[in-house]
Amino acid sequence: MRFFIKNYGCQMNSYDSRRMADILISAGHAHACSLLQANLIILNTCSIREKVDGKIFSDIGRLKLLKEKASGNFFIVVVGCMAQSRFSDIVRRTPYVDIILGPQNIHLIAEIVDDIIKNKVLDATISTSEDAESKFRQLPNKFSDRGVSEFLTIQEGCNNFCSYCVVPFTRGREFSRGVLDIVQEVKNLISLGVKEITLLGQNVNSYNGEGRGRRNYSFPDLLFELAHMDGLKRLRYTTSNPRDVDENLARAHKEIEILMPSLHLPVQSGADAILKKMNRKYTRNEYVRCVEMLREYRPDLAFSSDFIVGFPGETDADFQQTLELAESIGYAQAYSFKYSPRSGTPAAQMPNPVPEDIKSERLQILQNLLDDQQLKFNQNFIGQYLNVLFVKEGRHEKQLVGRSEYSQSVSSTAAAASVGDIVNVRITEVASHSLIGVIDQ
Ligand code: 5AD
Ligand code: SF4
Repeated sequence: MRFFIKNYGCQMNSYDSRRMADILISAGHAHACSLLQANLIILNTCSIREKVDGKIFSDIGRLKLLKEKASGNFFIVVVGCMAQSRFSDIVRRTPYVDIILGPQNIHLIAEIVDDIIKNKVLDATISTSEDAESKFRQLPNKFSDRGVSEFLTIQEGCNNFCSYCVVPFTRGREFSRGVLDIVQEVKNLISLGVKEITLLGQNVNSYNGEGRGRRNYSFPDLLFELAHMDGLKRLRYTTSNPRDVDENLARAHKEIEILMPSLHLPVQSGADAILKKMNRKYTRNEYVRCVEMLREYRPDLAFSSDFIVGFPGETDADFQQTLELAESIGYAQAYSFKYSPRSGTPAAQMPNPVPEDIKSERLQILQNLLDDQQLKFNQNFIGQYLNVLFVKEGRHEKQLVGRSEYSQSVSSTAAAASVGDIVNVRITEVASHSLIGVIDQ
């Protein structure tokens, strides 16, 4: 079969899509360059917010026509978080979908596709497994193409149960991969030309995997283990929960040269009353102290964050506290969202929903503030040098696009450099979401 994977949602989904591609290629299937050239279409879905669900359903709807035109030997596969959380809705609303697989069972993709081809029985299948262990048990023997910067899942699932979040219900409980397994995969990636790896987990700081001598490794232990791997130039990670950050992590940022000075530390809200209802298990002051502690060890650490506005019961005063908190931290970059009720989560039952127009108004105010902060952060670098890993070619001739140590997107016209190079770039121009620079000869 010729497969095409369309990816939605977070970085963990991108990683899962890469893995499915590896497994399918190992099983003899071929990667199609576009959806129209494929006869095995895989949608790797997300269900974090309602808006995404709606878009995915309409995308599945459009595939129906392609399937009808193909008349046979054409399969539609829906995998990922929405496949898990909306299984029965998918079966009911889009019965022409052939396979439905939750995020913990994506490793079965090739077997199930083979089954369906051989038996021609169109049957919906779903993950019921809640642990991710089997998913990581074996690596495929062939690999699809990799870029110079790639993700690697080290920990999956979540035990935190933030009251708004669907993830514990889609990806199940926390599971940490073993250190040796991770080291082996890092080596594989390096041999495929990868220079920068971002370690992924719903909550990487609660990583607790088996390491050397059967000792349990914490997340900072894992970082120190990966600090000196031949050929690995840059290491990043996401996402951290502030309640699990400790001084060992701060020390890692001070001591590990390849660990990049940027940290995604979602706060969600600046008001204690809302943090409590969100079940975040830290207070505003604890969050601030955590940032201060990290900055003591690594003063130039660039912070990014996620915010939710309009959580049930959020008052104007609560929202004001969120603005003040953002103001006091000074983020290099941040994402903000309107609260979206997810069925099955505790927050979906909470009283005092915030009206849509107030949510929109608050989102606009917060986004303006965060955009300003990002612009100011970027402006600090005008005339300075940033160390940039070029990850792809730009739209213009000889233009390359890459990322700085602080995760900023930087582009430069570079006659002598190429993708995969790490180069000092002198910043000449700045916009809020990207920087432009030149390479001195
Ligand atoms: N509504 C809005 N935003 C949400 N997020 C998670 N669940 C919801 C929800 N129900 C946001 C959080 C999280 C990011 C990945 O998505 O800010 O950090
Ligand atoms: Fe979406 Fe969360 Fe699943 Fe990622 S883990 S795909 S963000 S629901």
